[in-house]
Amino acid sequence: MSTQTIRPARTLQGSVTLPGDKSISHRYALLAGLAEGTTRLSNFSTGADPQSSLACMESLGAKIVHNDDKTIDITGTAGAFTQPAKPLDCGNSGSTMRMLSGLIASHRHVFTLIGDHSLTLRPMERIRKPLMQMGAKLDLIDGHAPITIYGGPLKAIDFDTPIPSAQVKTAVLFAGLQAEGTTSLTESVRTRDHSEHALRAFGATLLREGEKLSIPGGQTLKAINATVPGDLSSAAFFLCASLLFPDANLVLDSVGMNPTRASLLDVITALGGKIKVLNVEEQHGELIGTIQVNVAPGGLKGTEISGALSAQIIDELPVLAAIAPYTRDGITIRDAKELRVKESDRIALVAKNLKAMGAEFTEYEDGLAIPGNQQLHGADIDSGTDHRIAMAFSVAALRATGDTLIHGSEAAAISFPEFFAHLDSLCQR
Ligand code: S3P
Repeated sequence: MSTQTIRPARTLQGSVTLPGDKSISHRYALLAGLAEGTTRLSNFSTGADPQSSLACMESLGAKIVHNDDKTIDITGTAGAFTQPAKPLDCGNSGSTMRMLSGLIASHRHVFTLIGDHSLTLRPMERIRKPLMQMGAKLDLIDGHAPITIYGGPLKAIDFDTPIPSAQVKTAVLFAGLQAEGTTSLTESVRTRDHSEHALRAFGATLLREGEKLSIPGGQTLKAINATVPGDLSSAAFFLCASLLFPDANLVLDSVGMNPTRASLLDVITALGGKIKVLNVEEQHGELIGTIQVNVAPGGLKGTEISGALSAQIIDELPVLAAIAPYTRDGITIRDAKELRVKESDRIALVAKNLKAMGAEFTEYEDGLAIPGNQQLHGADIDSGTDHRIAMAFSVAALRATGDTLIHGSEAAAISFPEFFAHLDSLCQR
């Protein structure tokens, strides 16, 4: 286990380019593996999670080439995955395990999906239910991985997603794409729509009428050329870090600005951040822009995050919680029970680490209320092998008194291997 020391900073200045969006990288890798032809991807995520998706595609018969110019070529299986010789290892990646299950369930093979300790603790019943309704046979162990899928022909279903989860939605869409009949799906809360854009980019037909999505089955996909937008959830650490310093000035190039992900920018504005978005472009339905951020005169206020918003910025909640003590009025997070079943119990770990840094707060089953106007001190932080916890508390450490030790800092590489190097280059001390 590695430990990273974070010293307090005086301010944050400069510009960085982020690795490709993790969510989009997974989807492009999976769909490219199923498609006919060779997909060329630029700025594919450098995180370990999307590499797990690539490795699974290779085990299923896709050919992957990493080119010298950092592009990746994926030659797909033209709709015919092969029987993998060994279990499909999803590593730490819930996205890989859940979305891949939907993608492979109609193929007449027996698949075993495995993952690391954290992934084995995460709920998988949520994908088993709809896939079973479609006719797939999935064995779990007490609702968890390892998952065995006995693949075979699927039939369309009408599905209402009971929990707001883009991963569950995607598993159903990817299975529906290859089923008999038209699958429809209604979401209680509109979650990130990268799968919808990616499916269309690869040539699939998909309809949305109000809250209802429909995907006809029996469709085939064609390879694409694409550049993955920078990851806004990785950008969130630097955006929040810059809010801690009145004279900070940060520019982030080519960041994904998909509206179903960009609510974070509204929260930052509500907190008192000044955001400028420049040069917005669109590729394959995804918006990409340059973001400039600094703090409005008057400093950081506070905010409450609840309801649908909590689901929409679920991955950014740990870092918002970590900067909450430095705001004037604090941050309250509710309706975020899903945080307890992410790579770790993120509510419990945020609470543990806030406490270590001397913060006061109230912990709820579905969130935290963190008062403002608190000065934190350097401490020993437990990442719990969770990438977003390691990075969130590195941000909190920048305004603490004394040094902070992030234990298990290597977890950052799950989504953002360059994080500590970028943080160091932006911080002025
Ligand atoms: C993701 C969806 C979210 C998010 C995860 C990535 C995706 O999970 O927390 O990091 O790429 O679809 P859920 O779908 O479980 O909410």
